[in-house]
Amino acid sequence: MRVKDKKVIVTGANRGMGKAFVEELLKRGARVTMINRSPSNNKDAAGEILTDLSVEPNFMEFVEKNKLDDADILINNAGTLVGGLLEEQDPKKISQMIKVNLEVPIRLSRVMLPHMIKRGSGLIVNNASVSGVMTFPCATTYAATKSGLVSFSNALREELLSTGVKVCVLMTPGVKTDMYDAIYDSFTPHLDLSFLTSMSAQAWAKIVVDGIESGSSEIRPKGSENFGLHLAQKTPNFFRRMMRSKFSRKNT
Ligand SMILES: NC(=O)c1ccc[n+]([C@@H]2O[C@H](COP(=O)([O-])OP(=O)(O)OC[C@H]3O[C@@H](n4cnc5c(N)ncnc54)[C@H](OP(=O)(O)O)[C@@H]3O)[C@@H](O)[C@H]2O)c1
Repeated sequence: MRVKDKKVIVTGANRGMGKAFVEELLKRGARVTMINRSPSNNKDAAGEILTDLSVEPNFMEFVEKNKLDDADILINNAGTLVGGLLEEQDPKKISQMIKVNLEVPIRLSRVMLPHMIKRGSGLIVNNASVSGVMTFPCATTYAATKSGLVSFSNALREELLSTGVKVCVLMTPGVKTDMYDAIYDSFTPHLDLSFLTSMSAQAWAKIVVDGIESGSSEIRPKGSENFGLHLAQKTPNFFRRMMRSKFSRKNT
């Protein structure tokens, strides 16, 4: 779907990847409304709605009140990461992550869909992760939210086949943001991350918006960035052995 003149909603767009998505979309002439918890300084977006998505009580009212029902594209981007050994993860943070990473995209899609179906067009983009299909120790709960988002996207796409509404899932690789930097704090006591690579948020945003414009249903990293994902999907036992060689339970 060409994004020029389309109304696009992006969640979590005040920083990181969401901010880069908005800048790329604006460059190509989209009208962007951001749903942010913290204010952004983007003056070019058509709108900014401030809310904490993890406590937003009623998405039906939220969409009506903010006149979001005519949006052409919804990009479910906002997310958090809790990493480290499962028994050391804060249970409150786990619950909040499950909410923001998985429940919110499901509930927002659910209320946007009837409007898109009525118009016979629309696109839902879910920012998942290579973690959704790669078995990383220290990423148990985060991976669960992202594999859930991959499964949700793939099943929803089938359900919408005859409606004109499309679903695109992002198999996002390492992207240099605050979240990426935080991985090192929570994973490295136990996992050797020397294999990890990252690209800039701007480079990934360009790949994503190109993918949206060319009608991709799944957007993956390109070239060597795709190697790890390819390995994990095609040779899962080899990938698992490789991860085992990098993991040890320190301080336990
Ligand atoms: N970076 C990576 O390597 C990577 C790889 C694969 C997938 N991803 C996924 O990509 C997406 C964006 O990640 P990022 O790297 O850009 O992370 P980031 O820099 O940490 O930004 C996260 C964004 O989500 C927002 N957010 C978090 N909790 C929220 C809530 N309760 N309500 C509203 N907004 C909330 C944050 O707002 P505040 O500023 O208010 O906190 C921020 O705008 C996430 O879904 C992440 O899981 C990231």
